[in-house]
Amino acid sequence: MSTEATNEIDIHTTAGKIADLERRRHEAAHAGSARAVEKQHAKGKMTARERLLAFLDEGSFVEFDEFARHRSTSFGLDRERPYGDGVVTGHGTVDGRPVAVFAQDFTVFGGSLGEVFGEKIVKVMDHALKTGCPVVGINDSGGARIQEGVVSLGLYAEIFKRNVHASGVIPQISLIMGPCAGGAVYSPALTDFVLMVQEKSHMFITGPDVIKTVTGEEVTFEELGGARTHGSKSGVAHYEATDEKDCLEFARALLSYLPSNNMDEAPVFEVEAPLETTDEDRELDTLIPDSANQPYDMQQVIAHVLDDGEFLEVHASFAPNIVVGFGRVDGRSVGVVANQPMSFAGTLDIAASEKAARFVRTCDAFNIPVLTFVDVPGFLPGTDQEWNGIIRRGAKLLFAYAEATVPLVTVITRKAYGGAYDVMGSKHLGADINLAWPTAQIAVMGAQGAVNILYRRELAEADDAEAARGRFITQYEDTLANPYLAAERGYVDAVIHPAETRVQIIRALRALRQKRAALPPKKHGNIPL
Ligand code: HXC
Repeated sequence: MSTEATNEIDIHTTAGKIADLERRRHEAAHAGSARAVEKQHAKGKMTARERLLAFLDEGSFVEFDEFARHRSTSFGLDRERPYGDGVVTGHGTVDGRPVAVFAQDFTVFGGSLGEVFGEKIVKVMDHALKTGCPVVGINDSGGARIQEGVVSLGLYAEIFKRNVHASGVIPQISLIMGPCAGGAVYSPALTDFVLMVQEKSHMFITGPDVIKTVTGEEVTFEELGGARTHGSKSGVAHYEATDEKDCLEFARALLSYLPSNNMDEAPVFEVEAPLETTDEDRELDTLIPDSANQPYDMQQVIAHVLDDGEFLEVHASFAPNIVVGFGRVDGRSVGVVANQPMSFAGTLDIAASEKAARFVRTCDAFNIPVLTFVDVPGFLPGTDQEWNGIIRRGAKLLFAYAEATVPLVTVITRKAYGGAYDVMGSKHLGADINLAWPTAQIAVMGAQGAVNILYRRELAEADDAEAARGRFITQYEDTLANPYLAAERGYVDAVIHPAETRVQIIRALRALRQKRAALPPKKHGNIPL
């Protein structure tokens, strides 16, 4: 549509100028063709504007650059210059708190990123950094705008640079609601959380066609880069939403646990948690089975400790042997890291180490105390783990805990064996308050393994090897597999009834509220990558 005066509007009068503005606004709001919008809806997807309206508090959206248009002339682009250039940007509020947003509009040039499109995202990111508010990006794009060539690539890199500079300063959340391919995946990858929608969103560096040509593999879009794949196999996605609404709601929930920036505190809900032990608390006294080989659900412990039992788990289907997520204690945000005995007996492997390391660093960057629940028999053995770098990659978790300066509270519920004892928020790495249940077994290794090594000769020579093994195991367990040797040395500050856990954690976090800690001055650490 022309932007000149039309027959109905006389732009030489004030009323006409205002009417002209309204007409332009209408044009901007309908930049995508009716056909493209219909196609978008037919795929079960909302348009960019619909998504922003659903995400932000009602009536809070303020748009930037709705009249921005590309300046490109090649490949006939000059014949089509829609307002907005294929991305809707601006700011609004979520639960009353400011958030900067951009939503790529697939109905305009397939949401492809050209110069002006990129400049708009850069502007909104700069606004977020300047004002210290989170930035939430909704991705639905065919990638670099082919007609604009290198300019488009340049703008991608401008965005990547800002993602990196904003990292640890303001929360960045990426919602993938359509295609996100090629180098374009690296902006979401640099952000704190990546949320995907089942069946509707795909992320990959090279698509199925290229893969087939190069490697001969046949793979569908969903198998290659769908929400399930990235949620469970690659760990790229922190949440697999069932639909777009679910995805937007999860992003709002995430923001409620995060501060607006690294100098701020997460929102506080003024509730005074009761300090008496309740019947519900006492349920934890019977949670741990008598047999050390029997699993139990660590989610039970988490639910008993958090306010209202509410836990926003992230990365749930990736490395389920460790559980991470957010909750509140005493009305204040906490990050939870917990071994899960229900999955691989809670062993630490590469995926679990990286998942937890990333989470601890996210909490540390944003002043969120970390609660760690430990029941870990050790690192997962195997050539697969060794050859894929459990040494280098497992070290990340150690690094993350040791550099964290937020309040760290650790509860050992059962096993804390070997190196994994050290890694999982031990006193020695810098945890502030370490608690243990009487069921804790803190030792170099479990009884079976220890007895096999310590008493190899005796077992070989014994008339009844099994009976001897049983005796040695009992002796080992009675001597070493308990929390009291650690308590003697102050490696755990207290051995507590499981029922006291919630109250003790509240007291610990209250005591640590004013914690101030700093690392030696440096340019930056060199975390093993
Ligand atoms: C320009 C694009 C485009 C692009 C899509 N369109 N991608 N225009 N540049 N990259 C246009 C289409 O021409 C079409 O225009 C409209 O958007 C909708 O696209 P369709 O193909 O009709 O949609 P659909 O069938 O849903 O397919 C979606 C798609 C496909 C799978 C994303 O469009 C596609 O394969 N696009 C190219 C993807 C790609 O290779 N991008 C470059 C990746 S590399 P009309 O006018 O017909 O409606 C990259 C590098 C980034 O991005 C580097 C960063 C460092």
